[in-house]
Amino acid sequence: MSTNKPKVAVIGLGNIGKVVASNLVKGNREVILASNKFEDAKALAQQLGRLAKAAEVAAAIKEAEIVVLAVWFSSIQELLVKYATELQGKIVIDPSNPIAPDGKGGFTKIIGSDESAGQVISSLLPNGAKLVKALGTLGAGSLASSAFQKPESVVLFYATDDNSINSQIEGLIKDNGFEPVRIGGIEQSIRIEVFGELHEFGALGKPVTRAELKQIA
Ligand SMILES: NC(=O)c1ccc[n+]([C@@H]2O[C@H](COP(=O)([O-])OP(=O)(O)OC[C@H]3O[C@@H](n4cnc5c(N)ncnc54)[C@H](OP(=O)(O)O)[C@@H]3O)[C@@H](O)[C@H]2O)c1
Repeated sequence: MSTNKPKVAVIGLGNIGKVVASNLVKGNREVILASNKFEDAKALAQQLGRLAKAAEVAAAIKEAEIVVLAVWFSSIQELLVKYATELQGKIVIDPSNPIAPDGKGGFTKIIGSDESAGQVISSLLPNGAKLVKALGTLGAGSLASSAFQKPESVVLFYATDDNSINSQIEGLIKDNGFEPVRIGGIEQSIRIEVFGELHEFGALGKPVTRAELKQIA
């Protein structure tokens, strides 16, 4: 399996990780899959076919250039510490929303109202790793159903402080079946996290194309 593009590891194979991995394979992109349980990664890799392979978390991170941490906010913080060595020099994708169940069937923010998960995670990043807030602006259902929409793609927003990696990120988002739109640096993350102005479960309210975005913004 070789598509000559930066290799992507998807760590965590729940709602978001499974969709990201499936979208990437549809977009003809190699993926290395890892999760808590190796069996989960193996089963999904078998289902997705020749572009997907399973690995243990440390090996998946080592082999990839781009690492999607498709786990909860608190788990991302743990993984950044546990795999600090393996993550050095990698592009780290953070799709997280800093929320927890509110006990009434909804979700509540678990950090300050003016804080973003992106900024918190940025402060914990291992040396040389480059953080991107991306792949979390739509719910998993829309991330699956809106991918590769025709004739106009749906937009996925991203934020990063490092302009030198824009093309790798945009390639990743395009191969997921979406049109990338950079909104600025990590300090802008709050706008694309849940409850934010550009999130499906925030002011934006739905997946949008670039043309629809222009009418709103
Ligand atoms: N769900 C959505 O619609 C949505 C939308 C936007 C953003 N997000 C964000 O995306 C992230 C993932 O959400 P999700 O809904 O996909 O969660 P999820 O369904 O609970 O999946 C999490 C996955 O991560 C694995 N995992 C947990 N801790 C791990 C660790 N330390 N090492 C390796 N794998 C680990 C879990 O394995 P086990 O099952 O074995 O524990 C599971 O496969 C969250 O940060 C969330 O805020 C979710």
